[in-house]
Amino acid sequence: MNGENVADGAGITPKLADKLLASGADVVTLGNHTYRRTGIGEYLASSERVIRPANAGAETKGRGLAVVEARNGVAVAVVNLLGSLFLDTPVAPWEMVDGLVEEASAAAPVVLVDFHAEATSEKIAMARWLDGRVTAVVGTHTHVQTNDARIMPGGTAAVTDAGMTGPHDSVIGVKAELAIGRMRTRLPIRFEPAEGGVRLEGVVVDCSDDGRAHGIELLRLDG
Ligand SMILES: [Fe+2]
Repeated sequence: MNGENVADGAGITPKLADKLLASGADVVTLGNHTYRRTGIGEYLASSERVIRPANAGAETKGRGLAVVEARNGVAVAVVNLLGSLFLDTPVAPWEMVDGLVEEASAAAPVVLVDFHAEATSEKIAMARWLDGRVTAVVGTHTHVQTNDARIMPGGTAAVTDAGMTGPHDSVIGVKAELAIGRMRTRLPIRFEPAEGGVRLEGVVVDCSDDGRAHGIELLRLDG
């Protein structure tokens, strides 16, 4: 799961990261809000299952690739990368993605890429660039689930954005009046998480032990 917003909508704490792992997440990926909370850098430096974008810059603690075992014993690699369109990203994902995917593929037959990016065009381009080389490219960050889950011509599953687990009676998780207020007035209004319309969103990818994807389905469950 992507957990970059679990600490009241911005970042993650060591305690919350442990809670997600204890709840059953095998790997937690992050994004542009990775370092918003104190203490997370040290946590990431020693964590093998909580990863941050690989292109977050050489000065940042943590790693961008995790290799874990699925319940049936098959190795699964998870790669986390940040997009560079409309985000302040230290290193372009294109500079790193091929090396990372090579490293991931050498370690595991199943490779999942969480591409944490803003623009649909960049996410679709990245998915196509990786088509045939990884099991799935799942977009995160916009909090809005896109209706384009598909298997691409080369056999890789992809979706532009997996959506958000959280309060959908909101502006991407924030109390609507606060988000609108900041946009209308340009004042530094403090954001608070909303509460209503909680939904779980994500995707289910069906693949064989060799990492080939056979299906991808959007998941949306009302709370
Ligand atoms: Fe994000």
